Amino acid sequence: MAGESRNDMAAQPQIDKLLSDDTKFREERYAYQPVLCPALATGPGTTRPLDGFDLEVLKVAHEQLPFVSQNRLLEIVPGGKVVAKPRRLGLVLSGGPAPGGHNVIAGFFEAAKQDHPDSVLFGFLDGPQGIFTNKYLEVTAELVSQHKNSGGFHMLGTGRDKIDTPQKMEQCRQTCAALKLDGLVVVGGDDSNTNAAFLAENLRELGTQVIGIPKTIDGDLQVPGLLPLPFGYHSACLAFATEISNLNSDCKSDRKYWHFIRLMGRGTSHIALEVAFQTHPNVVLIGEEIEEQELTIHQVVRLIADVIVERARQGKNYGTVLIPEGILEFIHEVHVQIIKIGYIIAAYDREAQEGESFHRLSFEDQVLLIDNSDIWRDYDSRIFMGFPFLLQRGLLLPRDSHGNFQFSLVNTERILLEMVATYLRKQRAKGLYKGTFKSQSHYYGYDGRGTFPTKFDCDYTYNLGRTAYSLLVNGANGYLAAIMELSKEVADWRPVGIPLASLMHLEERLGRQALVIAKQKVDLESPAFKILAREREKWAQEDHYRFPGPIQFRGPAADNKPISLMLNAHG
Ligand code: FBP
Repeated sequence: MAGESRNDMAAQPQIDKLLSDDTKFREERYAYQPVLCPALATGPGTTRPLDGFDLEVLKVAHEQLPFVSQNRLLEIVPGGKVVAKPRRLGLVLSGGPAPGGHNVIAGFFEAAKQDHPDSVLFGFLDGPQGIFTNKYLEVTAELVSQHKNSGGFHMLGTGRDKIDTPQKMEQCRQTCAALKLDGLVVVGGDDSNTNAAFLAENLRELGTQVIGIPKTIDGDLQVPGLLPLPFGYHSACLAFATEISNLNSDCKSDRKYWHFIRLMGRGTSHIALEVAFQTHPNVVLIGEEIEEQELTIHQVVRLIADVIVERARQGKNYGTVLIPEGILEFIHEVHVQIIKIGYIIAAYDREAQEGESFHRLSFEDQVLLIDNSDIWRDYDSRIFMGFPFLLQRGLLLPRDSHGNFQFSLVNTERILLEMVATYLRKQRAKGLYKGTFKSQSHYYGYDGRGTFPTKFDCDYTYNLGRTAYSLLVNGANGYLAAIMELSKEVADWRPVGIPLASLMHLEERLGRQALVIAKQKVDLESPAFKILAREREKWAQEDHYRFPGPIQFRGPAADNKPISLMLNAHG
């Protein structure tokens, strides 16, 4: 016994070494110094109006945001005479994590410190609630160097709180006043940047300027000609592509499974599009196309099943199917139900007594309540009752704090898989299908959100942080920091400030029309989509799988950019 414990003790250092063997890898990540574009390389530069883009502001945006709706598009150029002085700055990470967030902080922090060493940066904790509950930490050089080029948002944490009441706005004002903030940066997607626009309007009199940063792996925060992509999209797509190309490799080897894969991305199909280019699956559904063709859910099932039947004729009872998580919203009959049910839930919860809510009712009572609603028609009932149980349950799920349908909670891949299996059984009975259908279902989302950023995202986010600083010190308030010409070398990137108000439209949220930043769907006229539409015929029948490999800092693929970005720029 005594001998054994001596051996254990002797082995401990080796065990420790084995267990902490990622240190070298992390050190190499931290050591990478992102490349800066010329406009930001020598200091904050200066801003000037940029013409030639048609950015329309809705009347309702003028009414609700009278000050920030006056903003004009700005470009940052080197030079200028911004006075270097100590500034008090704040930053909040908001919404789902996206790879590169820590580099936004690094870029912003280093720009501020280089401009004046006495400037301070407060990082609000756990998302917007950190602002209205006054919870923050002071960002230091040490903290920055420990997180640079790493994935996740864990330096500060994140959250999905909406600053949607006068009380919460007042609490934000009090926090910013107490900290005497000159500037606040909001890193987030469409909803978080909607928060940023309203904060900009409301904190203006305090002297706190607000700048948003375009973040979301979903890829749907875009402005044609000005902002090709938000950050995090490339890294997440590559992480998903690595997993899916592994599945392609497995199914081509074992030749026995159909893999139904749901990909995160909420109500647009940008992720599915990019991952398809990266991996060449046998089937890829693009929601925007399904919407345009007005397909029913049964027609979508046919679309998948037809490829399965055809491949079975060739003796190939295997393959991969990519499904964007938001596909249901593009199927008209399902979308109508998402809206109507959302409206009924919101109305019930508004009128409910303390402690009651729609989601405390049993499934049967929920269905009964919906059935009795004024906006629910007989045909709605018939459609709902014809859906598989999994889909019925999914439609009744709670909406998020912004009123969004929570696609990530619905097992759409299983719903489609079961419907395809039923259809194939019928085809077999008619003698039209003779293959074997064994299947696996997968969901990739949270894993890709937490991955290491690609080199592209490391550089992009670092430049975005610097852009935010330049905009602030040049007096901008109520802008989204962005970089034009992302498909080119960093030396050709052009930092700009896009007026947040010009990105807003009216949208149904929690049963009401709300002024929010619009999501950009996949453009079916874009070169990227047209190329996909042509190439996927080949991918359906042949085993044309592509293997992009893991995210790396070195090697032949290290400098790659999103394929869809490149096709749209040069296609
Ligand atoms: P953001 O828009 O905040 O970046 O988040 C996007 C996303 O990752 C979606 O793709 C997904 O549907 C959703 O967040 C999941 O939300 P949650 O983190 O609340 O589960």
